[in-house]
Amino acid sequence: MYENWEQLKNDCMGCTKCGLAATRTKLVFGVGNENAKVLFIGEGPGANEDLQGEPFVGRGGQLLDKFLAAVDLDRKKNIYIANMVKCRPPQNRDPLPEEQNECIGWLREQTRLLKPKIIVCLGRISATRLISPDFKVTKQHGEFIDKNGTLMMGTFHPAALLRNPTQKPAALEDFVKLREKIMEVCPETYEL
Ligand code: URA
Ligand code: SF4
Repeated sequence: MYENWEQLKNDCMGCTKCGLAATRTKLVFGVGNENAKVLFIGEGPGANEDLQGEPFVGRGGQLLDKFLAAVDLDRKKNIYIANMVKCRPPQNRDPLPEEQNECIGWLREQTRLLKPKIIVCLGRISATRLISPDFKVTKQHGEFIDKNGTLMMGTFHPAALLRNPTQKPAALEDFVKLREKIMEVCPETYEL
């Protein structure tokens, strides 16, 4: 259990708990405001993230930034973004269950320090692990579920939207619902 972000980040940056440590360039800890009340959780770093050490910096990330901006959210200002695994799975394969099991402790500590009011799962990998094992993004996107006092919502992964742009309007609706929920439960987000 960590008392502060500095200690947590310091220890995490040296992590070799799973096999992904051997092939990473940079570990991708997370980005954002450490006082944010809204936490976004993706899957794991891709090639660009692995090189730069920041989540969602490739084409998918640019798209995510657009959706965020549409509802006045900004990764550097009023939210926090992390991933299920902090190191890149080779060839961008899905992170293995055992890799997720090793890594999730870091995410738990991040969540403990942040105490988010709202968690948004970006895509199937985080939604099935954190919301429910049978979560179907295409059916349940945009629905808020209260889990022990934290509101959880799953939406499309930006990479899925790049592959299937017809889903973009539905994704935008999810972000509009998110803004409404923020205004309800943590309006201070818009003062950060
Ligand atoms: N996809 C993710 O899920 N996370 C990233 O950080 C980049 C791409
Ligand atoms: Fe450690 Fe997670 Fe990286 Fe595996 S993916 S080495 S558990 S930080």
